[in-house]
Amino acid sequence: MSAAAPLLEAADLHVWIEGSHILQGVSLTVPDHGVTALLGRNGVGKTTTVRALLGLVPRTGRVSFDGEDITARPTHAIVSRGIGYVPEERGIFSALTVAENLRLAERRPGAPRYALVHELFPELAARADQPAGTLSGGQQQMLAIGRALLNDDRLLIVDEPTKGLAPRIVREVADAVARAAERVPVLLVEQNLSLVRRTADQAVVLDAGRVVHTGPAPGLLDDADRVRALLGVARAAAAGGPEGRRTA
Ligand SMILES: Nc1ncnc2c1ncn2[C@@H]1O[C@H](COP(=O)(O)OP(=O)(O)OP(=O)(O)O)[C@@H](O)[C@H]1O
Ligand SMILES: [Mg+2]
Repeated sequence: MSAAAPLLEAADLHVWIEGSHILQGVSLTVPDHGVTALLGRNGVGKTTTVRALLGLVPRTGRVSFDGEDITARPTHAIVSRGIGYVPEERGIFSALTVAENLRLAERRPGAPRYALVHELFPELAARADQPAGTLSGGQQQMLAIGRALLNDDRLLIVDEPTKGLAPRIVREVADAVARAAERVPVLLVEQNLSLVRRTADQAVVLDAGRVVHTGPAPGLLDDADRVRALLGVARAAAAGGPEGRRTA
């Protein structure tokens, strides 16, 4: 595969849930480097798009990964191609320690990359014996990302890592995403524009189940009127205010 070919490509994805046409022909590509942000207001279909990519929800259309058509593959076969997924709910076990959470995440054959995870997130090593439920929200997000990084994946998909976090924690999460992206391409679902501004190279914007914008993230974020039209956020946020819509 040539260097310019996308790592992940989705074409004309449609999803119906309980009679509602939730995704209405979503097409997007994720390059093999950097952070691609999937943006959009509440309920426009961001999580459903991720679930459709992973085969977690019935869909029509086509999904390919590294040039291979994976549309008809079951989820376990899709993720075993090398996709790490951090869901909105983070997927960590509160009652288990940090070390136990990491151990449970070991999935792909080969040596789990503890050295990498501890290099990127030294706090996880320092807190190895601490129950995950006692970590701060930002630390929990690091643990969730660390679990995905352990497996030598070729793509990380992270769904709204700042949901429900205080603004000062958002910066920690942005750092964690940026550090992860140095090692593996990331598809980042996000509404917090300060995080997107810090990390994203490309942006795909959804509205009502359709892609309404695709292009370089900085160009979009610098256009306050366009940001407001596409994402419904105030000019201050678009122009680099402290947070986007979700200031929690
Ligand atoms: N299991 C489901 N049953 C019924 N409706 C659903 C289901 N999953 C998603 N939906 C609907 O599909 C639409 C898209 O939801 P989705 O979770 O993909 O949006 P989102 O962009 O991720 O939103 P948020 O920003 O709140 O996370 C919403 O209207 C939602 O109510
Ligand atoms: Mg969502």
